[in-house]
Amino acid sequence: MTKAGQRWDPERYRRNAGFVAELGLPLLELLAHAPGERVLDLGCGDGALTERLAALGAVVVGVDSSAEQVAAARARGLDARVADGEALAFEAEFDAVFSNAALHWMTGPDAVIDGVWRALKPGGRFVGEMGGAGNVERVKGALTAALARRGHDPAAADPWYFPTPDDYAGRLAARGFQVEEIALIERPTPLPGRLGDWLETFAEPFLFVAPEGEHPNLIAEVEAALDGTLRDGGGGWFVDYVRLRFRAVKPA
Ligand code: BEZ
Repeated sequence: MTKAGQRWDPERYRRNAGFVAELGLPLLELLAHAPGERVLDLGCGDGALTERLAALGAVVVGVDSSAEQVAAARARGLDARVADGEALAFEAEFDAVFSNAALHWMTGPDAVIDGVWRALKPGGRFVGEMGGAGNVERVKGALTAALARRGHDPAAADPWYFPTPDDYAGRLAARGFQVEEIALIERPTPLPGRLGDWLETFAEPFLFVAPEGEHPNLIAEVEAALDGTLRDGGGGWFVDYVRLRFRAVKPA
């Protein structure tokens, strides 16, 4: 999804974020779709997981706010469309709305939930996984501290919404959803490369609080600060992900 200052380059995403679709596979089990069901993939990115869903027999429409990612999804032969997740325009078209690792970029959750509600048929379900309370806390802490040391104020740049289960369940219920399950899951996640690659792929709104020329030193400083905490025994980097996973139903 596009957020102020965040660019989505499908090639960079493929190189540094292939794990996102792989780790989203368990969410397909929670979706438990029947072949032929119409499913909306909200925040489909480059379509890697959407494609798996389609291969399992769902009739999928993917939406994403990044035109570049939508083009990459279309190149896989998917029905993908550019759309703002906070202003969805579907009316009772889908048996399910599915979302993996995208909702935390949408900082107007009630508008998202409203749009999902309208998009679903009665009896339809909303199944999702996003960053939850405490997600990437160490990374964010080191990054904001490094920016502050350089005289920058990162507070206004925060592009992420990481709710608690109570917060998100309350919003779903307020719209009329029956929340069947919702939980936080700690999932420290190994990276394919350096932490700096993750920062460049996912944290541009923070990085661009500083002039681009400062980025290499800034990234080196964040890596140095986390060297003792976010590396495994073999020296590989991981990120302190905490997922909020849920399944909710629009009553028939
Ligand atoms: C996440 O999937 O939790 C995430 C990805 C990018 C930035 C922040 C969080």
